Amino acid sequence: MCPDSSEIEGLKRKDLLGVLELEKEEIELILNTAVSFKEILERPIKVVPYLRGKTVAFLFFEPSTRTLNSFSLAARRLSCDSVSVSASSSSVLKGETLLDTAKNLEAMKLNFVVVRHSSPGAPHILAKNLTSSVINAGDGSHEHPTQALLDLLTIKEHFAKFEGLKVLIVGDIEHSRVARSDIWGMKKLGMDVSVCGPPTLIPRDIEKMGVRVYYNLKEAIENKDIIYVLRIQKERQKRGLFPSTREYINLYSITEEVLEKYARRDVVIMHPGPVNRGIEIVPSVADGTRSLILPQVTNGVAVRMACFYLLPGGKRDKREERGEG
Ligand code: CP
Repeated sequence: MCPDSSEIEGLKRKDLLGVLELEKEEIELILNTAVSFKEILERPIKVVPYLRGKTVAFLFFEPSTRTLNSFSLAARRLSCDSVSVSASSSSVLKGETLLDTAKNLEAMKLNFVVVRHSSPGAPHILAKNLTSSVINAGDGSHEHPTQALLDLLTIKEHFAKFEGLKVLIVGDIEHSRVARSDIWGMKKLGMDVSVCGPPTLIPRDIEKMGVRVYYNLKEAIENKDIIYVLRIQKERQKRGLFPSTREYINLYSITEEVLEKYARRDVVIMHPGPVNRGIEIVPSVADGTRSLILPQVTNGVAVRMACFYLLPGGKRDKREERGEG
């Protein structure tokens, strides 16, 4: 069933900047709306007119395969027009600020700005200064809210519940915006969250987020429902934070042997991508029957459709619809 626009209230906030600020009910609204949109994505013609006449600008100043294309498809499926700006092809190269770039695009009549930037807080600055709805597509090591939402949708589909599920997030927690957004979201929905990695890749005080910390993978994976694997984010590390990749693989790589020996038989494996095969996870596990990695990607489109649909940028003006605008 498609969402019925007369029944859904939409989100009260102008922007989607992080999971930390979302109420549990808002997360549930986004997930339930995304479930409705999944039905549209199974149709032969996957396009609905809900955002006809609206426009989104994609400002991606860091590389992306999944997030950019998933937002882009989500916009197209909703009949929303789009323009795209990257660092290498914009006037940022000539010294223009991010805010000036965004304000100039907004002057062309936008409804949404989706931004990925290496500086934590960049989407927040845009949100304060623009009237469009701003969506954070990843800001430095801070947050990646739509990744967490698509992860939660994938968990909801697999387990049909959140309360009490035990998840272990393994790897470079320190530099991971995905880990932060996932921890906030999972905790709000009643999940039991643990993290595991080398001490140098675990943020100090992370226990304050309500998570348990492990440094030994074999102990950590025991009795977990979900193992969420993260890549080593070398692009955000200022210096080597562990002795060698070989040592990291020996201690923290998710392999068939480790799962066979220490994990539950029904454990599922998740990863936000991009995967560094043979480092944080072996190919046979990434591609194996326990893996939810590609379903996560599939769910990204429906979740991002739900975000566009529920934010005020996607609100349809009744006067415009009647041709009186
Ligand atoms: N998960 C994720 O953000 O992937 P991309 O960097 O490819 O967008």
